[in-house]
Amino acid sequence: MLNIRKERTSTPKVKPDYSNLGFGKYFTDHMFLMNYSTEKGWHDPRIVPYAPLELEPSAMVFHYAQEMFEGMKAYKTPDGGVQLFRPMKNIERMANTNDRLCIPQIPNEDVLQAITETVLFDEDWIPTTVGTSLYIRPFIIATDPMLGVHPSHTYIFCIILSPVAAYYAEGINPVKIFIEREYVRAVKGGTGYAKVGGNYAASLKGQEKANALGYSQVLWLDGINRKYIDEVGAMNVFFVIGDEVITPALDEGNILPGVTRASCIELLKSWGVKVSERRLSVDELYEAYDKGELKEAFGTGTAAVISPIGSLDDETKKAVINDGKIGAISQRLYDTLTGIQWGTVADPFGWTVKIK
Ligand code: COI
Repeated sequence: MLNIRKERTSTPKVKPDYSNLGFGKYFTDHMFLMNYSTEKGWHDPRIVPYAPLELEPSAMVFHYAQEMFEGMKAYKTPDGGVQLFRPMKNIERMANTNDRLCIPQIPNEDVLQAITETVLFDEDWIPTTVGTSLYIRPFIIATDPMLGVHPSHTYIFCIILSPVAAYYAEGINPVKIFIEREYVRAVKGGTGYAKVGGNYAASLKGQEKANALGYSQVLWLDGINRKYIDEVGAMNVFFVIGDEVITPALDEGNILPGVTRASCIELLKSWGVKVSERRLSVDELYEAYDKGELKEAFGTGTAAVISPIGSLDDETKKAVINDGKIGAISQRLYDTLTGIQWGTVADPFGWTVKIK
């Protein structure tokens, strides 16, 4: 159990227009901080006014990217309560990422306490406009002022909060996706399954290329065979082929084990829909498209929730999916998941955790 020191700002900010939030542009009045050193372990947990961090230019995070982050959301329910969605899934993934990056572990219950107390300290920042939530961004950075390549001996754990609306400007409208065959995001044995900033840095070049070609996102292929589907943009990806819903399996270690991904699989199974976690090649996908069997495609993620895919193109082939419209399965998943998260639909799975 953490003993969190709390200091309230004397200069609260003016709240943004909750009907025009976009994603990740505004930050609340406070943040959580906790330090690590080899001698003291994790210490000095505190909630303080949101402010710049002071770091040495030689801090290891700037040079060798020893950094991890998570993404989750808090929701205001119609009865005035506050809830999180499957927070332990994120916290367990955080422990796996820390392990992969040699970052010292924080007890799971301490992370949950830090998140809960920080969210409640800034509760008045949780937006209530339809489609909005309070995005929670926990992250850890390596702070040793040293240029040798080794795990740092000092770290900062920080949690910042951002009132958000849809991640993509398209919202729930289908996005156009470009199949990236030149650049890869992750390879087997790498950090694809972990939530590290470096994975996203590696994705920027392909993302920029796709944007220049008029696409909003990239479909990433596996780094070895360059033919199996990994992820799309900053999301996991699902395809509806005939009566089967397919999502790439996690066993190669290059795909992020998304909480929304897991929840979609569980929801689909509970509806009696056939779901397969398996390898899926672009060739199989285009073959299904040519036969008229590719019915729907969508990305899933905490930030994006469900993002339908309207077309999937590469240099030579173009596939328009479901006439570029959102499909029935994508819509049902979106409605059910957001309904559970916002507390407007029953939660038979016990996924939500009330913190107020
Ligand atoms: C999330 O979905 O929460 C993520 O972390 C993706 C991020 C790039 C916005």
